[in-house]
Amino acid sequence: TQPPPSHRTATGVRSPGRAAIAARHLRTDRWWLSPAATAAGLLAFVAYSTWRAFANADYYAAPYVSPFYSPCLAENCVPMRGGPNADLFGSWWGLSPALLILVFPLGFRLTCYYYRKAYYRGFWASPPACAVAEPHRAYTGETRFPLILQNVHRYFFYAAVPVAGILTYDTVLTFRDASYAWGHAGLGTLVFLVNIALIWAYTISCHSCRHIVGGRLRHFSKHPVRYRLWTGVGRLNRHHMLLAWASLISVALCDLYVYLLATGAFDDPRFF
Ligand code: FES
Repeated sequence: TQPPPSHRTATGVRSPGRAAIAARHLRTDRWWLSPAATAAGLLAFVAYSTWRAFANADYYAAPYVSPFYSPCLAENCVPMRGGPNADLFGSWWGLSPALLILVFPLGFRLTCYYYRKAYYRGFWASPPACAVAEPHRAYTGETRFPLILQNVHRYFFYAAVPVAGILTYDTVLTFRDASYAWGHAGLGTLVFLVNIALIWAYTISCHSCRHIVGGRLRHFSKHPVRYRLWTGVGRLNRHHMLLAWASLISVALCDLYVYLLATGAFDDPRFF
C-alpha cells in the first residue's frame, strides 16, 4: 500500500523512497512506557528543583550547603563559614542566589546528548520510540534554530567541571561538625560523598569529554596517555544514561537532606 498522497512530500518516514508502510508502527510491546516514565521523571525533577531554586531559604545547615546554592554568589546568601561564598553580586540582586549558578548545570543537562534524546521522545514524540513513526510531518533534526544551539554542549561541559570542583570542596567541608571542628562525619557526609561521586561520573562520562580527551587524533599509538583516558571515559560513557538519572536523583536528594536539616525536621545522625 502506498502512503496517503498528503504524506508523499513529507520528510522523515513518510518521505518518498522510504518503505511504504501505512501503519504508524509494527511494535507489539508497550513501547510508550519508557517515554512516559521519562517524561514523568523529568517533570518531577523540574517541579522540585524550581520550587527549591526560587525558595531562597533553607539551603544551609552547618556544615552542609545545598548543591543547588553552591557556590553562593550574592550578597543575600546566608553566611557559611569556610563555604563557597563569594559576594560577586551586590545588594541589587534580590532574587534567589540559586538562579545565578543553576544556569550552568541546567544548561549542561539540557544540552546533554542523553537528555536530548529523553525529552525529544518524552515531550515531543520526535520520535516517540525506536521504530515508531513520529507524528510530525516535517523533520529537521537539530539543523536549524533553535535546536542547532544544542551544539554549545561542549562549553557547558567546560562550565560543569568547575561547578563539580566546587561541589567537591563542599563535600570536603562536610567532614566538620556543626561547630566547624574538623575530623567529624555524619549521615550528611555520606549523602554528599555519594552525590559527588555520581556528579563526577556523569560529568566525565559526557560525550563531549570523550571527544575532548580522545578526538581528532590520527594515531592512538602516538598518544598513549590520551588513548588511556579515552578508553576510561568510553567505559563510563556506556553508562551515561544510568549516570544521568542517578546523579539527577542524588543531587535532588542531597538538597532535600539539607532542606530537612535546615527546617529542623530531624538532626543529622553523627558517625564520629
Ligand atoms: Fe551528557 Fe555531555 S553528553 S553530559
